[in-house]
Amino acid sequence: MKLKIAILAGDGIGPEVTNEAVNILKAVAELGGHDFTFVPLLLGGVAITATGSPLPTATLDAALECDAVLLGAVGDNKFNDLSPDKRPEAGLLQIRQALGGYANLRPSIAYPALAENSPLRPEVTKDANILFVRELLGGLYFGSPRWWNRETTAPGGGEAINTMRYTKAEVVRVARVAFELASKRRKKVTSVDKANVLEVSQLWRAAVTEVGKDYPEVTLEHQLVDSMAMLIMNIPRNFDVVLTENLFGDILSDEAGVITGSLGMLPSATIGGAINLYEPVHGSAPDIAGTGKANPLGAILTAAMVLRHSANLEQDAAAIEAAVGTVLAAGHRTADIARGSATGQHLVSTTEMGKLVHQALAQSIDRRQAMHAV
Ligand code: IPM
Ligand code: MN
Repeated sequence: MKLKIAILAGDGIGPEVTNEAVNILKAVAELGGHDFTFVPLLLGGVAITATGSPLPTATLDAALECDAVLLGAVGDNKFNDLSPDKRPEAGLLQIRQALGGYANLRPSIAYPALAENSPLRPEVTKDANILFVRELLGGLYFGSPRWWNRETTAPGGGEAINTMRYTKAEVVRVARVAFELASKRRKKVTSVDKANVLEVSQLWRAAVTEVGKDYPEVTLEHQLVDSMAMLIMNIPRNFDVVLTENLFGDILSDEAGVITGSLGMLPSATIGGAINLYEPVHGSAPDIAGTGKANPLGAILTAAMVLRHSANLEQDAAAIEAAVGTVLAAGHRTADIARGSATGQHLVSTTEMGKLVHQALAQSIDRRQAMHAV
């Protein structure tokens, strides 16, 4: 298997966690005899500093030549005063748009070993396994008009506008991804909207309902976003695939990090476009950058998604996920998932965590190869 992967490590803890993810991919390549190449490129604050642009043309051109794009995180407090179109985050939105993936898959799983990490009681998180399908190229993030009139002498002290806009076609294509995935899982789609207030949500609900008719084996339910925010905390195991527009999915997928115990655990994959984009859900966490405290598991689980969705290496993807489970079960914890007083836990750094997953993975791949050899 040949795979060329653009590596856009970005800002803050991005490079540290991405490094661990790349090490895991290298290990899979070596153990399985695959040919993976990695193309490091600038994005976000580091790109602004080096070139003046959050998404330099050189990055975009090179990324478009790759089979997959693996991203770390973008965002740096030193650019907080810039307007949204100049900030590091603008580079991320531009590359999302250029790669064309519209379905952002964000699994949120309750790992048994982390049951005590969630502020939710273990009996609440037990068996929770939600897959968010977040629409990634529409809604308030990309709708126009958008502007901020900063003129303080204007009536009302200035004015700003963003536009939530969806076409039916945009809803239909992401809904199809949700139903396809649900039909291979627990066969339930929960579509999230605010149809009691927003026309966009009424269109959303009608389009999703229409797509649902093609999937009679999948149960479709609609939830309003406010009540959904509560329900996923109350009974997370009730949800299988959760389909959302862009901003609702941004918010709810962070909230669902509570189920897992840490935002640092959550991976994502964006599919449907010319080139898939892979990024952990967490941000650049500038406050802990360079301290070795960052949790690389979100990035490592993102690497598993690269193998699953861009290389069709399902066994290896599952082996990485199992290795993460093994390492957690053995009590290894980065700072974000460590519970001070808990016995049997060992605090480890970012790189130590990466090595532990690597070891567990190598053992399981060895076992698999030995079984095949018999
Ligand atoms: C995410 C992030 C991004 C988003 C930001 C950094 C633009 O919060 O991937 O969830 O809002 O999509
Ligand atoms: Mn977010």
